[in-house]
Amino acid sequence: MNSLFSPARKGRYTLSNRLVMAPMTRSRAALDGTPGDLASVYYAQRAGVGLIVTEGTQPSDDGQGYLSTPGIYTPAHIAGWKKITSAVHDKGGHIFIQLMHAGRMSHPDNTPHHRPGVAPSAIAPGTDMFTAIGMQDIPVPRALTTEEVRKTVADFRQAARSAIDAGADGVEIHGANAYLVHQFFAPSANTRTDEYGGSLENRARFAIEVATAIAEEIGADRTSIRLSPGATIWGIDEGPEGPDLYRYLVAELDKLGLAYVHIMHQGNEVLLADIRKLWHQSLILNRPGHPRDKIGSDVASGIADFEAFGQMVLANPDFVARLKANAAMNLADHNTYFGGDAKGYIDYPFIEQTSASTVTSSATAKKKILVVGATGFLGAKVLGQLARDRTFTVAAMSRKGTLLQGSRGY
Ligand SMILES: Cc1cc2nc3c(=O)[nH]c(=O)nc-3n(C[C@H](O)[C@H](O)[C@H](O)COP(=O)(O)O)c2cc1C
Repeated sequence: MNSLFSPARKGRYTLSNRLVMAPMTRSRAALDGTPGDLASVYYAQRAGVGLIVTEGTQPSDDGQGYLSTPGIYTPAHIAGWKKITSAVHDKGGHIFIQLMHAGRMSHPDNTPHHRPGVAPSAIAPGTDMFTAIGMQDIPVPRALTTEEVRKTVADFRQAARSAIDAGADGVEIHGANAYLVHQFFAPSANTRTDEYGGSLENRARFAIEVATAIAEEIGADRTSIRLSPGATIWGIDEGPEGPDLYRYLVAELDKLGLAYVHIMHQGNEVLLADIRKLWHQSLILNRPGHPRDKIGSDVASGIADFEAFGQMVLANPDFVARLKANAAMNLADHNTYFGGDAKGYIDYPFIEQTSASTVTSSATAKKKILVVGATGFLGAKVLGQLARDRTFTVAAMSRKGTLLQGSRGY
């Protein structure tokens, strides 16, 4: 546990500890993708972790999938993110913006241009998605031309430049959880016949090109990637070659000298150990639903350099202080995960404000979280005057499903 709390040198940065806030979409941005006003408070409250990885942030308008997610490709986006990065830096924290291109996990009603999503191939994910009028089937996406794949790489590069202009310490490429980069890996989503489809080397090419372009643009030590090897969500099937694709991909990415790889672990321990051997830079490990009493075990065993936590950090702005003090953790309120206002966003109590009724022991918390996980889809509710001014409050738009048990993602 001790090494968890010691400062860690990471490229050009010294992080105050080895705990990371996992990226979490909160859907509170303006409809033009400018981060919401409360986001700087939310992130600054959590700056006690060694590194914050922000919510998924689209690198282009084609990259948006969900309602009210932030972007990082216009001057307004950059200005909005500047407030957040300065607020985090003022608290001594570090922040990487997660670049998330949703690819086919997108609905025309959710995007500024109302076009169908783009993807490696014209194959629908076979699921539905929350939109302003409720759940709707995700339509068949449009397959990117080879030229457009290259343009998408350029969009990632430009977004990374914008992230740095906005004061971010770096970017994390979202290569996990069934979004665009991951879609390229999976034969079930990628049936291309050009150099981005077919062999595992070809299916890994897009991720490698994106990482290479970003590393060239902002420096390898400010570039990182998140992967979820073996994830089987929303029509993603990596096929029997899946583990070998990741071995190849990680070995190739390793040559770039990136800041870190962030593994959202799906349970293949052999593959995880292989990735650890193939990767010579830092490894951040997120084990979904990891219990409180196991925190620190992955750094202690040497399988990871950093441990990432999502919901516990969402619900505990002073997560690190609570761990150090062995204090109880607030329980996350899943009804306020996506959309809405300050409630469930910046009003989780700090230790000193916590009364016995608002905390839960880690054992109770774990039990409740698993119950939430088991209830699956929670449905969604749109309030407000959507038709007139397109403001909305989402009471619950999550596919929590088995995310918390490790096989669902966002
Ligand atoms: C509300 C919410 C939003 C999420 N959004 C993202 C996201 O934008 N990008 C991403 O890579 N993972 C996302 N995730 C997954 C988390 O980063 C994390 O992997 C997951 O919550 C499991 O870790 P935990 O059990 O510590 O919460 C999200 C999870 C939650 C609960």
